[in-house]
Amino acid sequence: MSKVIKNGTIVTADLTYKADVLIEGGVITKIGQNLSGDESFDATGCYVMPGGVDPHTHLEMPFMGTYSADDFESGTRAALSGGTTMVVDFCLPSPGQSLLDAIKMWDNKSAKACSDYTFHMAVTWWGEQVFNEMAEVVDRGINTFKHFMAYKGALMVDDDEMFSSFQRCSALGALPLVHAENGDVVAALSQKLLAAGNNGPEAHAYSRPPEVEGEATNRAIMIADMANAPLYVVHVSCEQSHEAIRRARQKGMRVFGEPLVQHLVLDESEYMNKDWDHAARRVMSPPFRNKQHQDSLWAGLQSGSLQVVATDHCAFTTEQKRTGVGDFTKIPNGTGGLEDRMPVLWTRGVATGRLTMNEFVAVTSTNIAKILNMYPKKGAILEGSDADIVVWDPKRSKTISAGAQQSVIDYNVFEGVEVTGLPRFVFTRGECVVEEQKVDARPGSGQFVERAPFPAVNRALSTWKEITAPRKVERTGIPASGV
Ligand code: URP
Ligand code: ZN
Ligand code: ZN
Ligand code: ZN
Repeated sequence: MSKVIKNGTIVTADLTYKADVLIEGGVITKIGQNLSGDESFDATGCYVMPGGVDPHTHLEMPFMGTYSADDFESGTRAALSGGTTMVVDFCLPSPGQSLLDAIKMWDNKSAKACSDYTFHMAVTWWGEQVFNEMAEVVDRGINTFKHFMAYKGALMVDDDEMFSSFQRCSALGALPLVHAENGDVVAALSQKLLAAGNNGPEAHAYSRPPEVEGEATNRAIMIADMANAPLYVVHVSCEQSHEAIRRARQKGMRVFGEPLVQHLVLDESEYMNKDWDHAARRVMSPPFRNKQHQDSLWAGLQSGSLQVVATDHCAFTTEQKRTGVGDFTKIPNGTGGLEDRMPVLWTRGVATGRLTMNEFVAVTSTNIAKILNMYPKKGAILEGSDADIVVWDPKRSKTISAGAQQSVIDYNVFEGVEVTGLPRFVFTRGECVVEEQKVDARPGSGQFVERAPFPAVNRALSTWKEITAPRKVERTGIPASGV
């Protein structure tokens, strides 16, 4: 049965124009004037945009002694409700665990996804087995490998491990990702703060100053350069990290940066709230920063030195957060945002003139689809693209409240924020699953999206490195050895 979206204005990363969209078999089959289909959806006054892609989620993730509360069902339902039609989740082997075993676990968890999804693989330990299995992971359609430079004693890898893994990524045509914070310094500062009796959630922010992030970002960039690998920096929260990325890009390095919608909108004053629960619910790494850092992130999105807006959705209930009463280092790190990313970014970005509509599409779907090598299947309104579409009503408003959200947790870090700009319809591979804020998603309907390795950038980097490599000087005259 065919569907047609009529009377809307198509907005993509590079074009804005009026046209109808015909959907057949889950795919966009025609874009043009006066199209008809078996079922018609009215987009009068709306923008027809690629569904959002959130490149950074942790659904049902084992972390800090517990599991993140939203699983692939509630998480993808929340995503769809807010106009995001695909998530990229982190497959996380425990130290010593086979990467292929971890994929099996994530396959099981994701069987109930309501939207399409794909995985990044995390490199949480290093050895010959990891080196070998990375090739198989790429064969399974996962071309991105995440490295934690923080969480010492748990997920953290150190420089020699990162350098080995980045070189392996380069050889396999894969893209390394980093969580860039100096884990050694964070651990030392945390102990110092605790010893001084500073045990509340605000000390989480004190233990992770921007320098901790700037140093690690710069280190990862230099290590990637020496390994002939491109680099993607997740949750860039501050000017120090952004500056390192900007500088690297100016030098010609292929480095990408991903701010989170939380860091763009919420600031460090949240941690000073007298209510312990309020502050602890906002504990995440890196922490929220001040307005100057926020301005830097917005400027990065505007100028192109930062390319993608994510959520790092890793939701814990108040009960789970309370594990850290009396010791901030035990508060599970993470916040939610999957349902709110698109409306909040539209309201604070497009409606304020900080972003154009086309830039909004670029940073919420198109850029990441290109970076992760799944464009134009995802992130595009083109004939042949998956019909992952959001029909966006720029006039529709609501006040964000935990009581009305799809996420299973009992609060929302954007509680009380008024957003204008919400989906009228959301289509996931041609199925209309959201209509006027009513979500009718089908658990198990989401599919895993395979992503082939990208030989282009890695080959270019390796070719240039080979051409400019240090070489032994072949001499014409060599004196007899002295004495
Ligand atoms: O605090 C955070 N960001 N929790 C999720 C795990 C991570 O570091 O991305
Ligand atoms: Zn080592
Ligand atoms: Zn992280
Ligand atoms: Zn994360």
